[in-house]
Amino acid sequence: MLVEPAARIVGHVAVPGDKSISHRALLIGALSEGPTRVRGFGRGGDTESTIAAMRALGSFVEDADDDEIVVHGADFHDAEVDCGNAGTLIRLLAGILAGRGGTYTLTGDESLSARPMERIAEPLRRMGAQIETTDGHSPLRVGPAQLAGIEYELPVASAQVKSAILLAGLGAQGATTVVEPTPTRDHTELMLEAAGVGVRRRPTSVTVEPGTPRLAAVTVPGDISSAAPLLAAAALLPGSDLTIHDLGLNPRRTGLLDVLERMGARISIFNRHREGREPAGAVQVQYEELVAAELHPREIPTLVDELPLVALLAAHARGKTRIRGAEELRVKESDRIEAVTDALRACGARIQSTEDGWTITGVPARLRGGRVDARGDHRIAMLGAVTGLASREGVELKGAETAAISFPGFYDLLDTLVER
Ligand code: S3P
Repeated sequence: MLVEPAARIVGHVAVPGDKSISHRALLIGALSEGPTRVRGFGRGGDTESTIAAMRALGSFVEDADDDEIVVHGADFHDAEVDCGNAGTLIRLLAGILAGRGGTYTLTGDESLSARPMERIAEPLRRMGAQIETTDGHSPLRVGPAQLAGIEYELPVASAQVKSAILLAGLGAQGATTVVEPTPTRDHTELMLEAAGVGVRRRPTSVTVEPGTPRLAAVTVPGDISSAAPLLAAAALLPGSDLTIHDLGLNPRRTGLLDVLERMGARISIFNRHREGREPAGAVQVQYEELVAAELHPREIPTLVDELPLVALLAAHARGKTRIRGAEELRVKESDRIEAVTDALRACGARIQSTEDGWTITGVPARLRGGRVDARGDHRIAMLGAVTGLASREGVELKGAETAAISFPGFYDLLDTLVER
């Protein structure tokens, strides 16, 4: 795909429902007593994998509308489940299946099969689970077991690992507590609470009591991680003025807005409300010249999936930006530290990778442009597209279609906002 330079981004839009929350609505819906209606469901490659997985485990999932589904309880019979590209699915599902009494095999695509799985298998074994990885990766094999609650201190800040343990805790004897080194997204806790499960939250830990959820209905707000490329494009292109409505604004997800503000972009938030327990609202971004900003390591989980875009913003922000404490990016859908360095360098940015992030020297001018390979990673595809819009000569984007993993209509929506 050839992405031509753009003058500015102008308009009002909404983006698909949050991917993290959509996965959880399906998984917790399938565990629930009674049907669960999910409005604002974010359809994409990953969440389609979760629908197929729930069906494979005996759940009846009705497609009520483009962005509405109804999930019925699953019987969790023995099955082989293909998790596709979805890390959230394989990890949370392993937690759910560990105490269900069946025998399961969880597989994934090439990218998913390269991602670390001992981080969930190890704590689940401590709970009594029978779970085997394949040299630390998927396929995962889960056998029948009776689980007992544990208190577990996470060695890495990961919402997926936290959620896998909490969901296993629903079927365990006694309470399960997870202690976090740094707060990560809390959608699982919020949804379990909404579903009537006993959840106790403290500043650095969360405890769940065993029980059967009753979710009944969920409305999913827009995905801030899908809004991020649009927000970044508006922050990069002089004269831009973009508003995104009905966006999830959970404070554990909004790090990009804080960083954009510190870099000098003009950000306004209005129509703040809640969708169930999730904060939501509209976000307007207006272009201002950007300056380099410091990122605190504790902020990393609040913008972990937006860090590739932060690197692009930093390349256009006057001064030097150092991003540290982001070593988790090496085990995402691709090694995002190297993927971003290669992509931005090929387009003319001054960027150096480090073990746990980048050092970027920014200049308030357009990058030249060049060739970007998405490497089968949806976030890198969208990074390439935004880089092209903000460049002088455009970007030749290889593997653009992989954006559909999280945001199927991305390029069409972008086209409606771009002024050339
Ligand atoms: C997610 C958590 C994050 C994030 C991923 C979605 C979730 O991963 O990168 O895209 O839905 O819980 P980690 O928990 O592994 O950091």
